[in-house]
Amino acid sequence: MAHGHNSNEKVVYVGDSRVKKSNHPNIPPDYTSFPGKSEAFIPNFLLKEWMVGCVVLVGFLVWVIAEPAPLGYPADPTNAAFIPMPDWYFLFLYQFLKYPYVSQDYILLGTVGIPAILFGSLLLAPFLDTGKERRFYRRPIASSLMGLTLVACVYLTVVSWDHYQHQLEINGQVPEHIEREEKAREAAEAGKERPNYTQKPAVTASLVDANDPAMAIAKKQCIGCHAADLKGQANFPSLVGVGDRLTKEQLVQVVTDGRGGMPSFKDTLSADEIDQLTTWLSKQKAATE
Ligand code: HEC
Repeated sequence: MAHGHNSNEKVVYVGDSRVKKSNHPNIPPDYTSFPGKSEAFIPNFLLKEWMVGCVVLVGFLVWVIAEPAPLGYPADPTNAAFIPMPDWYFLFLYQFLKYPYVSQDYILLGTVGIPAILFGSLLLAPFLDTGKERRFYRRPIASSLMGLTLVACVYLTVVSWDHYQHQLEINGQVPEHIEREEKAREAAEAGKERPNYTQKPAVTASLVDANDPAMAIAKKQCIGCHAADLKGQANFPSLVGVGDRLTKEQLVQVVTDGRGGMPSFKDTLSADEIDQLTTWLSKQKAATE
């Protein structure tokens, strides 16, 4: 529509004999041919988009809260029984790399060569496949290549999953995320709290010789950080059981010179006091409860 003009003005269209009438039925007419049916991008269209976006986002949040991601236990490098698996959409690649000629000596072919050929041909496809035909059955080469890829992906995914199930069966294992869910459910049914695997196990040992005169020094100097019961807090390690971890010499060194966030007590405490304190600390063994 001609904007900014007097709308009463009669619009006269003039034909041009040099411009051929288009006979491409696929090209949609211009939006100006639908007066009142188009809308402004800002704010009308954008607001609608935002609204849809918000609804989708809130829905997604609710879904994620109701159905949390199935997590295993925190990573443990010493757990040799753990079977690492990629997410489902990578299973086909995972399985693919198990075959000879794309693994071991040929690993470069599997990880770089073949993916480069596949993605490269995808990039080149518009240049190689320039046919005008749109119907898939009229484009046998492109269609069959795509079909083949799809079938291969589905096949590899299924084989990979099957292999994983067999491995679990042989090892008599339950996947960690299922076991963890199960434990949480059991705890809930027993009316207990959900087990928290990110928290370190509580120190159960208690202080040895809590009435030792050294405790008086500790009460003055150390409990601000290492807590009143010396069991530590946040970033401050527990001193209960510290005798298992450090020798008397190491204790003297840590207390005298400090270490990391631990201040030096060279100037605060006399050598005698440090000796008294560390002798007592070296007796702090968790085993004696
Ligand atoms: C300002 C806070 C602070 C005070 C006060 C403090 N510490 Fe520490 N201490 C720390 C921090 C932080 C660490 C951990 C250092 C590290 O990670 O290297 C630590 C570590 C230690 C360790 C080593 C523990 C281990 O498991 O390796 C010992 C022993 C120790 N402190 C003894 C003491 C004694 C004894 C006193 C009192 C005289 C004291 N600390 C006072 C902050 C403090």
